[in-house]
Amino acid sequence: MQTAHDARIPLVAGNWKMHTTVTEAISLARDIAALSEAVGDAVEVMVAPPATALAAVSGVAAETGEHIRVAAQNGHWADQGAFTGEIGMPMVAELASAVIVGHSERRALFGETDENVNRKVHAAFAAGLLPIACVGETEAERDVGRADEVVSAQLDAALDGLSADEAGQLVVAYEPVWAIGTGRACDADEAGRVCALIRARIAERFGPKTGASARILYGGSVNGDNAAEYFACDDIDGALVGGASLKKETFAPIVHAAAPA
Ligand code: PGA
Repeated sequence: MQTAHDARIPLVAGNWKMHTTVTEAISLARDIAALSEAVGDAVEVMVAPPATALAAVSGVAAETGEHIRVAAQNGHWADQGAFTGEIGMPMVAELASAVIVGHSERRALFGETDENVNRKVHAAFAAGLLPIACVGETEAERDVGRADEVVSAQLDAALDGLSADEAGQLVVAYEPVWAIGTGRACDADEAGRVCALIRARIAERFGPKTGASARILYGGSVNGDNAAEYFACDDIDGALVGGASLKKETFAPIVHAAAPA
């Protein structure tokens, strides 16, 4: 019998962060497009290069048969205006079909608030982009037993004002801050528990059908050795991968682990 988990197409997204020149991005995107083609439609493979390489990577996606989906790492909530250094979602939409919003690095290093994240989610949908909204607690928050509360509050803020249709399309990435780039991946059972909580909250606010269709990713030190454990969890539909997404050798086993047996 097909479960709700089976019905959701797994998504493996590589967040390249502030890495790759345009030349390097083209080469990596070509490698990943070949990898994605080999796995077929069973897994959606996405790459999020730096903004400078979005155009070139979209070119690679088009030229290699659209086997990779391209995302921006950020976008502004306003369409245009006097926001030096920022890029509006309609600008992103010319070069990508998705956008990461509220990554913990944006929250911690660039002062992004829950309210900013919500505005960005709305702006992304308005521009026809798929938003990937990141939530996750810090180590200090987890240590005092506030992980669920923090994640729920970030999620609630991100969801505010969305239609059920939008909430059902949204991708939420649960990324405990202490697991990002540290090699200290979250225990799969615990990641699965928090992702179930996220799904239950979406269902509570928008109905069970919407809860069943939203895709929830785990992120934080995902690698070829631990990916399968996450993907086996009922409420985890893929991964947001940082470090291991920068080389095809380390990204490939994660993509393969997401393919249904
Ligand atoms: P990591 O990063 O895989 O290097 O831990 C994950 C992320 O920041 O999305």
